Amino acid sequence: MRRRGLVIEDGRVTADSGAGEPEPQAVIVPLTSAAIFLIVVVSQAGASADTVRGLCADLAGLVRAVGFRDPDAHLTCVTGFSAAGWNRLAGPGTPAGLHPFREISAGPRRAPATAGDVLFHIRAERMDMCFELASQIMTRLGGAATAVEEVHGFRYFDDRDLLGFVDGTENPVGPAAARATLIGAEDPAFAGGSYVIVQQYLHDLAAWNALPAEEQERIVGRTKLSDIELADDVKPSFAHNALTEIIVDGEQIQILRDNMPFGSAGDGRYGTYFIGYARSPATIEQMLQNMFVGSPEGNYDRLLDVSSAVTGNLFFVPSVPLLEGLGEATPAPRPAAPGAAGRRPDGSLNIGSLKGAPGDG
Ligand code: HEM
Repeated sequence: MRRRGLVIEDGRVTADSGAGEPEPQAVIVPLTSAAIFLIVVVSQAGASADTVRGLCADLAGLVRAVGFRDPDAHLTCVTGFSAAGWNRLAGPGTPAGLHPFREISAGPRRAPATAGDVLFHIRAERMDMCFELASQIMTRLGGAATAVEEVHGFRYFDDRDLLGFVDGTENPVGPAAARATLIGAEDPAFAGGSYVIVQQYLHDLAAWNALPAEEQERIVGRTKLSDIELADDVKPSFAHNALTEIIVDGEQIQILRDNMPFGSAGDGRYGTYFIGYARSPATIEQMLQNMFVGSPEGNYDRLLDVSSAVTGNLFFVPSVPLLEGLGEATPAPRPAAPGAAGRRPDGSLNIGSLKGAPGDG
């Protein structure tokens, strides 16, 4: 299937037709059994930024090399940059929606912002493949970057989170997934890119399991065993799937989630790693506002009575050519994003143009 220059096969955006937007990274892929969420901070020292840019240019080759050991495991990696990371490694042109993650604080509920310059979202059917790629990435980075977060996620029974509910059912598929996640004409310099928000949630499972299943179903908005959406006349306005439904001009604005359970039984740590891709971060930010503050205010998401967000970050996911261009010695000129500030004195706008800048190696 083709749409605006994208080739979509089996729910996966596989290529650019040559006439449309640049090829996106592997944002839209079928759910996998394993994932590693790896977030690094780039060192201020020496040639660190150049080392990271070099890795970005070679990442596709690394994924190919590791992935070829078992093509059926469908190894992929999506690389994203926080506002700080983008400024440091790319800049000065900035994607229209990129900014530091906005913290939320409402009564006892907090969505904190935590450190991170670059996210590697590694997915495969086999954890060993994810682990091998993460190791190769860290080896390549050497002292140029430090991991500040590394979460190993696993698929739990029939795509359930550790609260026991099927997670991911209402994700858009096919062309709707591309429409929901890929930047288009609204920000032409960054077309084919995407935004991703990640948060680590820890659950108080004892408190959750003390609730009757019917109450849990009202909190999520779906039945637990059969995963059917509750009818409007029984679904409370605070249900998770009511507060995360965003309607603009009569149309539902969707996001693409690939949440993963994680944890460590010995420590009693039970979590959900939330990861949501969107064409604009504003959609996910509105969902977070509804969940934490409430819609209307006070009508908040009861999942947060038993779940605490302990990390939070927003990343921009550049298209494949833009990502690979970070490592090029003489990147091709590209236009600035509309309204983007910061044309360099020499008139260049380019990704990688900070190379050789003082203090950058
Ligand atoms: C503790 C963390 C979370 C858990 C355990 C969780 C779990 C779930 C479950 C079980 C569903 C219903 C099945 C489905 O459609 O996938 C769901 C739906 C959804 N969640 Fe979450 N979620 C969490 C956090 C978030 C966050 C932070 C957001 C966005 C900011 C979000 C956005 C959504 C959306 C958009 C839907 C689909 C709603 C619909 O259209 O029916 N979730 N989530």
